[in-house]
Amino acid sequence: MDIEKWDEYRSINKALIDFVEEIDHGSKMKKVVAHICQSGGKKTRPVVLLLSSRICGSEIGNALDAALSIELIHSASLIHDDLLDRGILRRGAKTAHEVYGIPAAMLAGDYLISKSIELISAYGKEVGIEFGRAGMEMAEGEAMDVDLLERNSNNLAEYFNCIEKKTASLFAASAAMGAYVAGADEDTVSKFRLFGNKLGTAYQIVDDMLEYTSKVNNKESIHMSPSLVDVYRQDMADSKAIAKTREIVEQLVSEAHEIIDLFPPSQSRNRLHEITTYATKGLFSEVGTRKC
Ligand code: FPP
Ligand code: MG
Repeated sequence: MDIEKWDEYRSINKALIDFVEEIDHGSKMKKVVAHICQSGGKKTRPVVLLLSSRICGSEIGNALDAALSIELIHSASLIHDDLLDRGILRRGAKTAHEVYGIPAAMLAGDYLISKSIELISAYGKEVGIEFGRAGMEMAEGEAMDVDLLERNSNNLAEYFNCIEKKTASLFAASAAMGAYVAGADEDTVSKFRLFGNKLGTAYQIVDDMLEYTSKVNNKESIHMSPSLVDVYRQDMADSKAIAKTREIVEQLVSEAHEIIDLFPPSQSRNRLHEITTYATKGLFSEVGTRKC
């Protein structure tokens, strides 16, 4: 998948560069924000927002600030997650706190969240509520993650509850917000939200699985969250647990595709298909260098 060539990707990338450019030249804040915002990544979430918006009839320009706000809150969550997980490497580079220290990293996260609120405020109540709820769920999910790790819990229901909140919530909000921005009705918005939920859940299962199998080479942290394989391994052999995890991911991807297929064929629909397959394919490749 050549996402770097997509106009959705290029637009969000340019918006991100412009945003960093506007921060006080030479300030430490600018350096920390640039460190995370210009460290690569596929911009999956904002691209999902822009594609969902296009499918519902909007132009990129109308949805761009909403897409940027999604990328900024995501970047903030990565900085904060790395603080909690004592992350060392992210996207092949040292984490923000390793380079700039814990206070500067924490404050850059606060700065990014605040900017994302400023950007989203122009979109009205429904979009604002969707966005705020996703942020709250991410924090709840991350708190569950910390708790699961402390209790060494490999409970199936708790695992799914945690990843749906910490990860799938922002994918779901991205797709739903894209639909809202285009003026879609509640039924359509719900379909996009569900699509994002399936994609985000599959994405996190693969992310955990890549760490479990040590297939990932651009990320490193002291604390590792439990994976779905760990959950299944309690009741079956390793190979069976891996096969069952794969099945679950394939099922989620196919359900996500089915939802998108409810909409008429278009380039945007094809791209949402592709991005869903891409974001979850690391599980099936030799080395996981996926950069979402
Ligand atoms: C990655 O988990 C973590 C997340 C997807 C969510 C992080 C959320 C927070 C820190 C709450 C902050 C909330 C807001 C609104 C900024 P992981 O450690 O399994 O993934 P990794 O392998 O990429 O580190
Ligand atoms: Mg982490």
